[in-house]
Amino acid sequence: MAVTILGIESSCDDTSAAVWQDGNMLANLIANQDVHKRYGGVVPELASRAHQQNIVPVVDQALERAGVTRQELSAVAFTKGPGLMGSLLVGTSFAKALAMGLGVPLIEVNHMEAHVLAHFIEEPRPSFPFLCLTVSGGHTQIIRVDDYLSMELIGETRDDAAGETFDKTGKLLGLPYPSGPVIDKRAAEGNPHAFSFPEPKIPGCSFSFSGLKTSILYFVQEKEQEDPDFINNNMADICASVQYRIISILLSKLKRAAGETGIDHVAIAGGVSANRELRQRFHDTGQERGWHTCIPRFDYCTDNAAMIAMAGYYKYLEGQFTDQSVTPVARYPINR
Ligand code: KG4
Ligand code: ZN
Repeated sequence: MAVTILGIESSCDDTSAAVWQDGNMLANLIANQDVHKRYGGVVPELASRAHQQNIVPVVDQALERAGVTRQELSAVAFTKGPGLMGSLLVGTSFAKALAMGLGVPLIEVNHMEAHVLAHFIEEPRPSFPFLCLTVSGGHTQIIRVDDYLSMELIGETRDDAAGETFDKTGKLLGLPYPSGPVIDKRAAEGNPHAFSFPEPKIPGCSFSFSGLKTSILYFVQEKEQEDPDFINNNMADICASVQYRIISILLSKLKRAAGETGIDHVAIAGGVSANRELRQRFHDTGQERGWHTCIPRFDYCTDNAAMIAMAGYYKYLEGQFTDQSVTPVARYPINR
């Protein structure tokens, strides 16, 4: 009989539902929440209210698009964490109720592990072991992946995440939220070497972005004293230079991790991996170093339920089910 998994994602500001059936992602629906745009960042209370409004129609539409009835579902997988508590609660409660009503297993998924498993949704799939640089709005991690459900954290940020650095820089420059995709676009017209921002000296495979964030703030404030219209006059060059530095930091740590572990299958995941320059420079670095590189397609980089369904499928095969006492967690280390 076909194994059919419904995935539900609600960790931040996207409500998403996906249906995976025997090797095919039949549907992956995402409802974005525009309500946060005017605040320059995600407002947790508004996010959970929007999830409540979206969750039923998004799940219904995902099933309809997949051509699957609720009765055909083998299990319901949901994001247990990490994320915003109010947002996670909506997806978790819905998944618990649906699984109980249908009498099918409930499967909890770690959002960060799911970003890694997004690589297995379609070809080309990485081979084990591989390293995955997972870069999102809240996380920057290098993970060693030995199997679908066996992962080890090799390094992570000590302070801010790479995506947050894109978003905070955008806020400073007066760009809309989320700023990562906007900076990506504006940077394409700019000179990445127009301005120079420092690379932090952090040992090992750990990251730090708080110093870079502060240096961008001081740089802009100083320049605005000379030219009050400095930002508008130099937008593309500022975006290109900031983006260049963020990506250099990411790739230098990834090269270090590959050197130290001797692993040459290397992947990137998470929202920031949608960045065009990161994808290009990651590809070029891979060619230089003889890596086998793997990047998911755009829709599977940013938050989506397809990756939750994928992770749920591997847990289903291992019989890793969750009971109805489960509660979401804002912090959730990988492989726990
Ligand atoms: O994985 P994700 O969708 O959500 C979290 O789990 O955080 O990542 C969102 C982050 C945001 O910071 C957003 O600005 C960034 O990914 N992002 C990008 C791009 N697309 C999304 N950053 C740089 N370039 C992009 N094209
Ligand atoms: Zn994410």
